Amino acid sequence: MIALTQLNRMPADEFVAAVGSLFEHSPWVAQCAAPLRPFASAIGLHRAMCDAVMQAPEERQLALIRAHPELAGRAALKGELTAASTGEQKGAGLSACSADQLHRLRSLNFEYRSRFGFPFVLAVKGHTPDSVIAALAERVTHDQNDERTVALSEICRIARFRVADLVDEPLGDAIMAMADDLATMSETNDALTCSYLTPTHRATAARIRDFMLAAGLTAHIDAVGNVVGRLDGDGRSGKRVLTGSHYDTVINAGKYDGRLGVVLPIAVAGWLRRSGVKLGYTLEILGFAEEEGVRFKSTFLGSRAVAGRFDSSVLGSLDKAGVTLREAIVAAGHDVAAIPAIARDPAEVACFVEVHIEQGPVLLEASAPVGVVTRIAGSLRSMVTITGMPGHAGTVPMALRHDAAAAAAEIVLAVERRCSAEPGVVGTVGKLEVPGGAVNVIPGRCELSIDIRSGEDALRDAADADVSAEILNIAKRRGVTATQTRVLDAASVACTPALEEAWAASALRVTGRPAPRLASGAGHDAMMMASLTGIGMLFVRCGNGGISHHPDETMSAGDADVAARVFVDFLQHVQPA
Ligand code: HGY
Ligand code: MN
Ligand code: MN
Repeated sequence: MIALTQLNRMPADEFVAAVGSLFEHSPWVAQCAAPLRPFASAIGLHRAMCDAVMQAPEERQLALIRAHPELAGRAALKGELTAASTGEQKGAGLSACSADQLHRLRSLNFEYRSRFGFPFVLAVKGHTPDSVIAALAERVTHDQNDERTVALSEICRIARFRVADLVDEPLGDAIMAMADDLATMSETNDALTCSYLTPTHRATAARIRDFMLAAGLTAHIDAVGNVVGRLDGDGRSGKRVLTGSHYDTVINAGKYDGRLGVVLPIAVAGWLRRSGVKLGYTLEILGFAEEEGVRFKSTFLGSRAVAGRFDSSVLGSLDKAGVTLREAIVAAGHDVAAIPAIARDPAEVACFVEVHIEQGPVLLEASAPVGVVTRIAGSLRSMVTITGMPGHAGTVPMALRHDAAAAAAEIVLAVERRCSAEPGVVGTVGKLEVPGGAVNVIPGRCELSIDIRSGEDALRDAADADVSAEILNIAKRRGVTATQTRVLDAASVACTPALEEAWAASALRVTGRPAPRLASGAGHDAMMMASLTGIGMLFVRCGNGGISHHPDETMSAGDADVAARVFVDFLQHVQPA
């Protein structure tokens, strides 16, 4: 491997010699990238080279595609492939095809080349001969332009995997670069939004799967869209350690909520594999598909499925466009009937650990890069619909009105008043809408959300009950009706003491000082996993006053590096009993 700092400093011709092979027989790509140095990350280098490919003239793009060998073709048989291609085709089982597979590949390759005038190119990492044949059979039906674009994107995927094996960089930089890269895929132009099973969400899942493959993990996407990577151990223990977090986001989110807990373990797993460090157990990394519950009322859907708590009644919930969750899952190419099989057998799982940004100011104020979580607050969430009497804004006297929005305003203040009355309880009305409202119409209908949390369930439940009673009082007094529907009941969860101590010991060994211990006011997938196995969480410091669920959410590469080294230490000391 070559350090990125070295690649950034060396003379251009040495740089081209060092990275020219990332694009098969096409050093011109590296020549385009050389003047753009220094690169902040390996992903940045890769992106610059892919930009050069995508912006090249068509003739040059075709020459690049034609520079690639056929899969299991004559050049492979004669041993004339580059070292990289030889390893890649061997890794996909293409050097050990059956006679029938070879026949199918040969005839499809011939048909493909006759149709497009260039060879079929596929990033074969993670493939088998049969899945290669399936991809070839599908793509041979494409039209010329589409297929050139697909071929070029596959060439860029091949380069991504080759970069990961060639370029060495600090773990913290790699982690931040992966989070930045995922944040380039969004449903909204000016900020990050990635909601369940949208095209953005599916592209994000595919990229996370590529990050896992580049780290040398096996990787697949399960029937609810969780991205699952696996790093096999040396077999000393039959149990596996699970880690992960969610990759969906709130609307206009920050880059690190959830995603840090997916990309940090991937970076660490890649480092362990490249360093030849074998864990005594299989490490499974989970990118949970849906935790925020933004598109459907399906909070913690990904971790519920893994924990065996998937509630099939949620399949009927509707998004704003009237699409059911079931339809969204089928449209994403998944099989609803395969969801129950996602549940893990508790006997096979040693523990679940989650790395997550703190989403608050405690570590920042303590000048601590990491903290150990003691418990996770429980939350009760509900949606309230208020139905009043619509009317003309100019003609209805105030005393005769049954204004749904005015009632909602009282409810917002009632939530604030009740939850402020008691330390350790928080209450939020995050959604407040007058559907189809107009400036000159008295609101006849208003919808709002209520989220009440506490580290103590009894306090949470009492506040929720008082708020519900007050809603009815307000509705009665104002002559409106109010219906309240529960959308989430997540009990507070204590982290497993042995895992809390294990995190604390790792943090002390790595940082040389005791890490703060703190409760989490935010909910996390670990809450769902607690019904499957023991749970532990590591928090990482946030900047900007700890703001989260906002584009200003931030953390540092230095803290990411510390957290990654604490995670390595944790993985090497945890005993999967
Ligand atoms: O709402 C939460 O605490 C988490 O971000 N889903
Ligand atoms: Mn969140
Ligand atoms: Mn989160």
